[in-house]
Amino acid sequence: MTGRLAGRRVLITGAASGMGKAVAELFAGEGASLALLDCDAAKLSDVAAFLGAFARVCDVAEAGSVETVVAEAAKSLGGLDGVVSAAGILATKPFADFDRATWDRLIAVNLTGPFNVIHSALPALQAAPSATIVNIASVSGYLPMAGTTGYSASKGGLIMFTKSLAFDLGPNIRANCICPGVIRTEMTRYIWESPEHSQRASDRVALKRLGAPEDVSRAALYLSSEDSAFTTGTEIVVDGGFCWR
Ligand SMILES: NC(=O)c1ccc[n+]([C@@H]2O[C@H](COP(=O)([O-])OP(=O)(O)OC[C@H]3O[C@@H](n4cnc5c(N)ncnc54)[C@H](O)[C@@H]3O)[C@@H](O)[C@H]2O)c1
Repeated sequence: MTGRLAGRRVLITGAASGMGKAVAELFAGEGASLALLDCDAAKLSDVAAFLGAFARVCDVAEAGSVETVVAEAAKSLGGLDGVVSAAGILATKPFADFDRATWDRLIAVNLTGPFNVIHSALPALQAAPSATIVNIASVSGYLPMAGTTGYSASKGGLIMFTKSLAFDLGPNIRANCICPGVIRTEMTRYIWESPEHSQRASDRVALKRLGAPEDVSRAALYLSSEDSAFTTGTEIVVDGGFCWR
């Protein structure tokens, strides 16, 4: 490890699993102090104990509890230099069967969640000499796929939310997205546990494999470090060659 985040204090949501967990592990190894948020208490406790990091159980869709735990996180770390929003959910069904509760929850977690976290973290981020925001969106924010009206709307919204944030919060705060394709995590277990689905998903991308959480955490490291000092309001697509953006 190279200490690329030495001295930086970073809050990560969705840190108990998948990409958020991979980001937490990589960032800890690169010298960052971490505050980890997730709604899954048992898994979060395991990750936090392994990394020796501050952690709080929290539903990112609940503005009040987000405000409380983000303030606790900033106090515990002595400030915040970065946020990575990885908490998210997936639900797919044909639009004719799409119920309002599913729509509301997708928007609440995947779009309003990052808003809640970043809004609560803003005073701390503004107090830092230079701060970074990384939101995990998706190729679904670009590409229509069957049954993804709610998920795609939440991720397309997150991409534009992030671009607009970059405009509003520069020059001291940079804001960028990562748009993953299919990555092997709990969210996509239904794909990679089936040899047939897994093969189909691999065959349709140029690199002929599913992504690993570490493919995404390395992009998050770039966007959270000085290596990306002149990059804001954009996306890094990590999809193995699929959506061609
Ligand atoms: N896996 C993929 O192929 C893929 C592709 C594109 C985008 N994404 C996005 O990447 C992000 C990370 O997903 P993942 O694949 O690592 O999934 P994952 O299920 O492994 O991890 C998601 C984490 O978010 C947490 N979480 C869910 N809802 C929450 C809430 N309301 N409040 C707090 N925490 C909550 C979960 O407990 C879990 O620990 C998500 O935003 C997802 O939409 C995933």
